[in-house]
Amino acid sequence: MKAMVLTGPDEPLAYKDVEKPVLKQNEVLVQIKAAALNRRDYWITIGKYAGIKYPTILGSDGAGVVVEAADEAGRQWLNKEVIINPGHNWGNDDQYQGADFKILGLPDDGTLAEYVRVNVEYLHPKPAHLTFEHAAAIPLAGLTAYRALFTKGGITAGSKVLVVGAGAGTGTYAVQFAVAAGCQVFVTSGSGEKIERARQLGAAAGVNYKAQDWAEELKHMCGGFDVVIDSALGKDFAKIPELSNPGARIVFFGATAGSIPELNPRTLFSKQIQLLGTMMGSPDDFSNMLEFINTHKIVPVVDEVFPLTQTQQAVEKMGSSSQFGKLVITV
Ligand SMILES: NC(=O)c1ccc[n+]([C@@H]2O[C@H](COP(=O)([O-])OP(=O)(O)OC[C@H]3O[C@@H](n4cnc5c(N)ncnc54)[C@H](OP(=O)(O)O)[C@@H]3O)[C@@H](O)[C@H]2O)c1
Repeated sequence: MKAMVLTGPDEPLAYKDVEKPVLKQNEVLVQIKAAALNRRDYWITIGKYAGIKYPTILGSDGAGVVVEAADEAGRQWLNKEVIINPGHNWGNDDQYQGADFKILGLPDDGTLAEYVRVNVEYLHPKPAHLTFEHAAAIPLAGLTAYRALFTKGGITAGSKVLVVGAGAGTGTYAVQFAVAAGCQVFVTSGSGEKIERARQLGAAAGVNYKAQDWAEELKHMCGGFDVVIDSALGKDFAKIPELSNPGARIVFFGATAGSIPELNPRTLFSKQIQLLGTMMGSPDDFSNMLEFINTHKIVPVVDEVFPLTQTQQAVEKMGSSSQFGKLVITV
């Protein structure tokens, strides 16, 4: 089969012929119709990720059709349109993943290929209102944003929510989900055009994080936030507690702009602010996220669709952060 293979450090992804996967017990073969990129794929291609091994087929997100089943466990899925939960071996505790947790697309071969093998427990029906391209954009980013907002952030209708870096794949889901849940959503983003795109998704307003006075401007617009979703961190994160309401939850899962800077502890304890780390999501989060997408007929924000042969160009676009939403690969 054809696949995009990570062949070595500092090597662009290579379009190659590789062996079709051989199924193990309880597994099915999914013919991938569309895959999608996450920042993780970019970090791996530039060597900034733990446990990189060569060769590997990257790709955590995929939607396709089940074409083979190893045994009885998978037979009911044959010919079904599916999406794949990329969080494997979560473990028994909903609060955090176990030691054996792994993400599809390193260490195991992922979705940037004509076929991928998956255990049946990670299959979910493709939302009927979505194309393969839109469905493929859901799994990793949708799951992460869902858990950050609902499971960790505890948003309810009327919550004032700030999404930092709204143009991120995870950011666009955070905006869409929070708007659908009846929250008042504000954003930061790196361009006026992206802020306008976020407004079209239902955000009330936003500021450009590159502006000197972005935090003051936000304070003026909104007053304060009950829940903040941040995948960027970096030096600007020092302003986030100042922008937060008493009892706020600040949820983070990435560090695109760098580490957490020195924070004013008095602000944190006097406002009883909770800083909450989160990581993808449990199987229940995944099911709940899909139910939410189906109920609210959410259509993922796809920035651009590339053919499999041009995956490297898509990875480079992600490196420039010029996208708004997800970069999808058709297979
Ligand atoms: N732990 C987990 O489970 C988990 C899961 C998913 C993602 N992540 C991490 O979360 C981050 C986002 O992932 P993704 O796939 O959504 O990435 P992505 O689609 O590549 O988005 C990156 C975005 O970061 C924003 N950004 C860059 N510099 C910024 C700054 N100084 N201040 C605010 N925002 C800034 C930009 O937003 P604008 O376009 O709006 O300017 C950019 O579009 C990555 O670091 C990723 O590794 C972690």
